[in-house]
Amino acid sequence: MVVNVSTLNKVVSKAASRLSVLTRFLDFLGVSDEESSLNKINISEKFRLFSDEWTPKILAESNGQLIKIAKGSGELVWHAHDNEDELFIVFKGQLTLQLRNGNVVLNTGEMYVVPKGVEHCPKAETDTHFMMVEPSSTAHTGELQSEVTVSSDKQEWI
Ligand code: NI
Repeated sequence: MVVNVSTLNKVVSKAASRLSVLTRFLDFLGVSDEESSLNKINISEKFRLFSDEWTPKILAESNGQLIKIAKGSGELVWHAHDNEDELFIVFKGQLTLQLRNGNVVLNTGEMYVVPKGVEHCPKAETDTHFMMVEPSSTAHTGELQSEVTVSSDKQEWI
């Protein structure tokens, strides 16, 4: 088979262009380099992606539990989760879990599990950052539907 150089150049350049499109597509999917293909999550970076308060963002799923982060200031609403414990971990600021029998004040690096069925009303100092771990079935404000409630199907992955 005889292939002239010009045809070969065209073929190579077309292949290169396709490869570049593919590379950009893989970049877009976040699977092209070694680090992102391992799906490492930088929590600080994730906190920088949003500013809305009391609107949990999902980072990961593990054994049916969703790992969510949120920002808050002021109060949410009193509610309970009949079937789910709810774990709070504070990354910045101060989160007070108001319970009917007293308050749990969480500072940076501290955590608490609100047992299932226990009424709570989170209250945060300005610009508090925290993480929650709870089953995917957990409703934002329990049975209570309020204007601040974000339904599970509206809670977004970031
Ligand atoms: Ni709750």
